Amino acid sequence: AGPRTLLALNWKMNKTPTEARAWGRELAGEYRRGKAEVAVMAPAISLYGLKEALPGGVDIGGQDVSAHESGAYTGEISAAMLRDAECTYVIVGHSERREYHGETDAAVAAKARQAQAHGLTPIVCVGEGLDVRERGEHVAYTLAQLRGSLEGVDERVVVAYEPVWAIGTGRTATAGDAEELAAAIRGALRERYGDLADGLRVLYGGSVKPDNVASICGQPNVNGALVGGASLGVGDVLGMLAAL
Ligand code: G3H
Repeated sequence: AGPRTLLALNWKMNKTPTEARAWGRELAGEYRRGKAEVAVMAPAISLYGLKEALPGGVDIGGQDVSAHESGAYTGEISAAMLRDAECTYVIVGHSERREYHGETDAAVAAKARQAQAHGLTPIVCVGEGLDVRERGEHVAYTLAQLRGSLEGVDERVVVAYEPVWAIGTGRTATAGDAEELAAAIRGALRERYGDLADGLRVLYGGSVKPDNVASICGQPNVNGALVGGASLGVGDVLGMLAAL
């Protein structure tokens, strides 16, 4: 048996702190601990207090973290701050950060190392755009991105494969596409971390919802999902948990 399935919810830039707490209370009203673990990656301003509203056993995480320890970095959030706000995880290198904020593999690796130094588990995101996929170079591209993004990062890590063409587009990779890359990622993790790789989580992200979550997470090398759009409504989240 591999690691327990992780349903990682990425709210992106949605919900005010008040809405976040209300969502946590709503989930708490209906949540039953099941086969999957759940973590909510909320905007940083909503994290403090969210954990209290959520049902026991549901973790929280940030969507980004500074590579720096502290100091004159206006607007940044440090790993120590996320940890103090009771975060377990932090997403690093989401394709939206790479695209809109110019984050390189080296920058992503620095953030992941900083997260680990403070006891956070980084969820390192990788994945190809449509042009790369159409040239048939998606495996090589994604593995190169992964190697760069894991420079100096130890095995306390989650990897999320998110093909950029499937994010927020309603166009989901097939379960077979997800498994192809998850297996390749597992191989790269094995090269780096040896047998420990078998216990690490590789997630798939991109238009995951209640009706496709089970087939995707049922693939041998897929240990969960990173969910955007379908993470916003409590009903969809309960639907995904029921399907798993
Ligand atoms: O982090 C989540 C992914 O970007 C997927 O987003 O489920 O809205 O396609 P989506």
